[in-house]
Amino acid sequence: MRHPIRLYLIIMNVLIVFTHPNPASFNHALLDKVSAGLKEAGHSIKVKDLYQENFDPILSASDLDQLHKGEIPSKIAKEQEQLLWADSLIFIYPLWWFGRPAMLKGWFDLVLTNGLAFEYSSDGVKGLLKHKRALVLITAGGSRKYFEDTDALQLIHRPTTDGTLSFCGIKDVSHEIYYDIANISNEERLEILDNVEEMGRTF
Ligand SMILES: Cc1cc2nc3c(=O)[nH]c(=O)nc-3n(C[C@H](O)[C@H](O)[C@H](O)COP(=O)(O)O)c2cc1C
Repeated sequence: MRHPIRLYLIIMNVLIVFTHPNPASFNHALLDKVSAGLKEAGHSIKVKDLYQENFDPILSASDLDQLHKGEIPSKIAKEQEQLLWADSLIFIYPLWWFGRPAMLKGWFDLVLTNGLAFEYSSDGVKGLLKHKRALVLITAGGSRKYFEDTDALQLIHRPTTDGTLSFCGIKDVSHEIYYDIANISNEERLEILDNVEEMGRTF
């Protein structure tokens, strides 16, 4: 007897952390497309647009003081609630000085606290977010050739994939880097946008 093929769709809560100051940017188009794909697949999404929210990325002396006393400042607790809501995380940002925009770096500084995202144990550091997965989409002004020739490729994604997400236990991380973004043709941009929508649909 033939069995029908059953396709199971796992519906997820997806938090998209978006970092670009310009709502007319290519980065914003990536956000729109991946969101459309995710919605089409039935996932619940929350978009955290750091610039639009006027997010305060500064981990202040009083924040640190509270954290050292085991208290979570309310501005951090609010962010952590969204992080814990999410089964999956998507980060979209432009490469700035071979790294993440300061706004996003600040979000990581504030949100991924000791005790919530990782902890120190007798076996070393233990990541606590190991049931989450992540996708990282980065645009770069430089060409792929430039990054390959200068051996700088790993500088782009390692701070987020290894230094941050993997450290916190998120091992299932995919990332895409879109090079030469100011010089590619319109057709190439549209192709990237189609691919990103599909990534959302099949996430
Ligand atoms: C402050 C700043 C720093 C940048 N640093 C880099 C860099 O280190 N490497 C690189 O390839 N592009 C760099 N760029 C170019 C951006 O990555 C590029 O403009 C962006 O990815 C384009 O995306 P958009 O059209 O959505 O703004 C930088 C741009 C700015 C404004």
